[in-house]
Amino acid sequence: MAEDTLSITDNRTGISYTVPVKNGAIRAMDLRQIKTAPDDFGLMTYDPAFMNTASCESRITFIDGDRGILLYRGYPIDQLAENCSFLEVSYLVLHGELPTEAQLNAWVQQVMSHTMVHENVRKLFETFNYDAHPMGMLASSLAAMATIYPESRNVLNAEVRRLQILRLIGKVPTLGAYGYRHKHGLPSVPPDPDLSYTENFMNMLWKRTEAKYKPNAVLARALDVLFILHADHEQNCSANAMRSVASSQADPYASSAGAVTALWGPLHGGANEEVLKMLDEIGSMSNIPAYVQKVKSGECKLMGFGHRVYKNYDPRARIIKRIASEVFEVTGRNPKLDMAMELEKIALEDEYFVKRKLYPNVDFYSGIIYQAMGFSPDIFTVLFAIPRMTGWLAQWQELITDPAQKIARPRQLFLGYGRREFVPMEQRGASAAAGG
Ligand code: CMC
Repeated sequence: MAEDTLSITDNRTGISYTVPVKNGAIRAMDLRQIKTAPDDFGLMTYDPAFMNTASCESRITFIDGDRGILLYRGYPIDQLAENCSFLEVSYLVLHGELPTEAQLNAWVQQVMSHTMVHENVRKLFETFNYDAHPMGMLASSLAAMATIYPESRNVLNAEVRRLQILRLIGKVPTLGAYGYRHKHGLPSVPPDPDLSYTENFMNMLWKRTEAKYKPNAVLARALDVLFILHADHEQNCSANAMRSVASSQADPYASSAGAVTALWGPLHGGANEEVLKMLDEIGSMSNIPAYVQKVKSGECKLMGFGHRVYKNYDPRARIIKRIASEVFEVTGRNPKLDMAMELEKIALEDEYFVKRKLYPNVDFYSGIIYQAMGFSPDIFTVLFAIPRMTGWLAQWQELITDPAQKIARPRQLFLGYGRREFVPMEQRGASAAAGG
């Protein structure tokens, strides 16, 4: 008779143990009973980079990496991208269900009423260098918002959390736009609540002297779909950072500033910026084979390729490729698309990439669209962070309301010195020399 348990025999002692298996996992704490002596600490697992460790139970986003499936709250990403607005998806990710029309209208109204940012935070942008990286400005301004809303530290209060969620989703495009305008030496533009979430973002980025900004409908929809694709992605590096910082009960502004800095790295959201730099470096179609050779010899990575979880085509990359053509009809074709497509073609046929199951990820094509829309590469990751705020906040809310969660505090396998006596300064040279 099959049982949901695992039998373990410790060959060091000959003792056998039975531990429960639930949801395809054993609890690491169940291994602690496995000891070689009563004063032994007990068995631990060693898993750098969380390759095979679930840090939480979650009901938000499901990824089947082998089959290239991505579901938010059970709904396939392509259906959501086809049928929803970003704020509708944001509601779904945060609340667990698609909104009714009345719920959606109320949600949009509430979020849009929180798009203004305190003037002191806006002034913070004036202190940055003209060439400050927009992700640095975003992280700093998010952290600064904690000083404006000190009550946000009361993270165990559901009503307080709800208000901070509205504020963060409402204000993050405004902060992103402030960074953009500062970089371009342009005065900031106040939010226009007549516009949709994405249209208003475009207004705050691109409005010049016209009395009312009129967004291009195709570009607004494309940006909205890109936002939908980036709304959440389960326990990725920045979601894990959000959860880890928030597990100390830090306020959500501090926690999301931490998530932004995690996203900034070139192996995570920063990859979209790196893809464009890479395409610039390659320069022309004729240089692609030599570049692929460099990647294969380990000199560099093919940015925008590979994923920890997807071992099949990233479904978001497929959708992005499709909307690229709609955008290019408005903006003109970005010539980098041809290079990217050729690079993809060569890579997908090459043994190196096939064997390692390396496919284009969400960042491979998104930058090409953003560039065609007029964004410079250093702001691409901000365009990832704005919609990902929804995911970070959903992960935060789930963490705070999960009774199984505590402050995140991994163990280590200590391999350093055991106790040793302090060495006075005058004797150190000799001991260092003795130590080689
Ligand atoms: N180019 C060349 N080789 C690669 C790449 C790549 N982009 N990605 C992985 N590999 C190789 C890697 O060298 C290793 O080879 P070997 O087995 O010979 O040592 C093998 O594939 C397995 O890779 P890994 O480094 O163990 O995979 P990982 O799960 O630790 O890393 C990743 C995942 C996304 C960090 C990595 O694929 C990567 O650095 N990609 C480029 C950066 C990128 O596009 N990041 C965006 C990720 S998707 C959006 C997001 O999450 O923000």
